[in-house]
Amino acid sequence: MCRDDISIFRNGLAELTPYIPGKPVEELRRELGLKGRIVRLASNENPIGPSPKAVARMKKTLDEINLYPDGGCYELREALAAKHSLSPGHFIFGNGVDNLIPLVVNTFVNSGDEVIIPTPSFAAYRTSTIVAGGIPVEVPLKNFCIDMESIYKAVGPKTKMIFICNPNNPTGTIVYEEELNRLLGSLPPGVLVVMDEAYYEYAEDVRYPDSLLYLRENGNVIVFRTFSKIFGLAGLRLGYGMARPDYVSQMEKIREPFAANRVVQAGALEALADREYIRQVKDVHMMGKQVICDGLTSLGIFFIPTEANFIFADLVVDMKYLFPELLKRGVIIRPGSFWGHPTFARITIGTPDENNFFLEQLADALKLFKQL
Ligand SMILES: Cc1ncc(COP(=O)(O)O)c(C=O)c1O
Repeated sequence: MCRDDISIFRNGLAELTPYIPGKPVEELRRELGLKGRIVRLASNENPIGPSPKAVARMKKTLDEINLYPDGGCYELREALAAKHSLSPGHFIFGNGVDNLIPLVVNTFVNSGDEVIIPTPSFAAYRTSTIVAGGIPVEVPLKNFCIDMESIYKAVGPKTKMIFICNPNNPTGTIVYEEELNRLLGSLPPGVLVVMDEAYYEYAEDVRYPDSLLYLRENGNVIVFRTFSKIFGLAGLRLGYGMARPDYVSQMEKIREPFAANRVVQAGALEALADREYIRQVKDVHMMGKQVICDGLTSLGIFFIPTEANFIFADLVVDMKYLFPELLKRGVIIRPGSFWGHPTFARITIGTPDENNFFLEQLADALKLFKQL
């Protein structure tokens, strides 16, 4: 075989494409030379930012950034253990949940193991599985919801892990407690269920499960949460996983030594404690959700009822045409083509002002297509 036929790259990379994040505001300004207002509702961030107490504490920490952080996140671990009624040994920290997804896959998935992934969902599950030599078994959503029945049917002798994004990104739908009970009650012992609860704090539905109950019962459940969403610290990157301590100690062997930086550890401690601020963020979110849902309804647009801080909506026009029109008008959302739904978009709920601007610009852009 000629040397050129041998790929220098790892197996599986040919199946992957780079992650496409929401378009940055600066990039849009550069590309289109826009001078006016730009509203970015594309990455499910908290539009009003972190607690001012967290910001004040982080500023003080800047004086210490010549020092490595505490790799074990002692104070944060203690605070979270108390908050969640778990032991400090149940926690592992990462540079965002993005950093923990490959960590969990690399800890448990051997080459040839199957990993069940509802589709569409968060792209990193598939990427990490392929990089680890695992086999992604994609189970399509049913009516935009994770199809727990089909997931159960997909479990076979090679199944090692199941990812469940709850609420699911991009649809905002949830898996109910009853469905999760049924799945967990019937899985063979060697199958791990990874619950990605990045949007946990936004879920209001009483049927939303308390996955920590399963963990406390020593179940094969690993739960991820993040400081990127309701806590408003996406730019500093901090996520955590909760798992049985014997699982955590195996994950610790391969985690980055200083994955959680010094500044965010300090900020997260304050952000956790400032419950009043989180309540305010939640109020802004709930009001915004209502405004966007009402606005979409009055434009005759179908959307999926959401339990997260974003809405997946069918804007009817192919995003190939509509997305550039919205960009020209200073609105950045996330085209649904990324998830195989070309006329859909995922819209992050913003501040009242941002939501109104989005709705006005959307109505204006849609007029162009009504005339065709
Ligand atoms: C479902 C889901 N999991 C994980 C992440 C990544 O979170 P983090 O910012 O903690 O890396 C996101 C980010 O959007 C997400 O939507």
